[in-house]
Amino acid sequence: MENSSADAQTNTQQALAASPPEIGTPFDRAMMQRCIELARRALGRTTPNPLVGSVIVQNGEIVGEGFHPFAGQPHAEIFALRAAGEKARGATIYVNLEPCNHYGRTPPCSEALVAAGVTKVVVGMVDPNPLVAGGGVARLRAAGIEVVVGVEEAACRQLNEAFIYRILHKRPLGILKYAMTLDGKIATISGHSTWVTGQEARAQVHQLRAACDAVIVGGNTVRLDNPFLTSHHSDTHNPLRVVMSRTLNLPLDAHLWQTNDAPTLVLTEVGALPDFQDQLVKKKVEVVELTPLTPAKVMEYLYNRQLSSVLWECGGTLAARAIADGAVQKVLAFIAPKIVGGKVAPSPVGDLGLATMTEALTLERVTWRQLGPDYVVEGYLPLKG
Ligand SMILES: NC(=O)c1ccc[n+]([C@@H]2O[C@H](COP(=O)([O-])OP(=O)(O)OC[C@H]3O[C@@H](n4cnc5c(N)ncnc54)[C@H](OP(=O)(O)O)[C@@H]3O)[C@@H](O)[C@H]2O)c1
Ligand SMILES: [Zn+2]
Repeated sequence: MENSSADAQTNTQQALAASPPEIGTPFDRAMMQRCIELARRALGRTTPNPLVGSVIVQNGEIVGEGFHPFAGQPHAEIFALRAAGEKARGATIYVNLEPCNHYGRTPPCSEALVAAGVTKVVVGMVDPNPLVAGGGVARLRAAGIEVVVGVEEAACRQLNEAFIYRILHKRPLGILKYAMTLDGKIATISGHSTWVTGQEARAQVHQLRAACDAVIVGGNTVRLDNPFLTSHHSDTHNPLRVVMSRTLNLPLDAHLWQTNDAPTLVLTEVGALPDFQDQLVKKKVEVVELTPLTPAKVMEYLYNRQLSSVLWECGGTLAARAIADGAVQKVLAFIAPKIVGGKVAPSPVGDLGLATMTEALTLERVTWRQLGPDYVVEGYLPLKG
């Protein structure tokens, strides 16, 4: 008995240590959730900028709202200030990310907030860039404005996980997504794979694509599945669809070459099938030669193209290369309670050169959800180095 009560105490202590005290009032937290909701209206469209929403409150009432629609446009706080007009004077402004304090494409929001005469600023999280972190908060405090930092911080970090990763690691966040049967197959022995999961899981994948800047497959997936890789919704964002193919031995007719709905980029090795490249370009498919054509090189290239989040929707061969190259940080495994069997039926991750179970890559921060008849397990690979 003594032991179990000691265990219970330890568990309580651990729980307390794991969840820091909540910052702000329930009203503050509700307003920050509203900021997140507003920010999400620009899902998939802001790269390389973050998703930011802002709410201005005067006497307990919302008098202005705004969000950052895409890079080059004013920041969320500016839209909220414009909506509030004179009512911003003496008001409290909520924003999920620390207001900027430097001249970029737009003047600093900290100055706009001072000029508008707000008296309190409630911030979800400080800027993840260590070079500027805290600068906006310091500027506001120096002007005599009360600043509260860290309201709904975990949710704010989750919202901008790709932006944060990009700033800290100078690479886009790589997300590996696959759908497999309960016996670990992503296709049958013939290579047939439509559909492993049901409608609810597939709808979730469409939402995931809408939130990502690019989605990548390899040549084999184009040859076998002829995928569309769109978000299947007319008013949501479509990611840049990327095909990695060394051989360019690809069909001349493929859904991915229809670029009216979404752009397609084919990445290949220098000098691969110039005639086929010309035919793709005629179909308005962009072709870029990268040597060596590796996942690491591709991530570097996409980072330089200002992308923040990249969804790997490839088969096992390329997925293994991407993991080995450090191009995957997050895994989303959709699991259908089906058994399809087949010794040579493909599995989600090819050879990683790991010989013992003790070498297995163990995911962290693992969660799971049910989606109709299927399940999705989400987790993060441990960061290297
Ligand atoms: N259930 C699912 O979630 C899911 C998702 C995707 C695919 N699939 C299934 O997976 C199977 C295909 O698997 P796969 O592993 O062959 O997938 P893949 O996604 O086609 O990747 C392999 C291809 O990537 C290209 N590639 C370019 N650079 C590479 C590099 N550095 N290293 C390795 N490959 C590189 C090569 O194309 P080239 O040969 O053109 O040079 C290679 O054949 C199909 O049966 C498909 O139905 C299932
Ligand atoms: Zn700003």
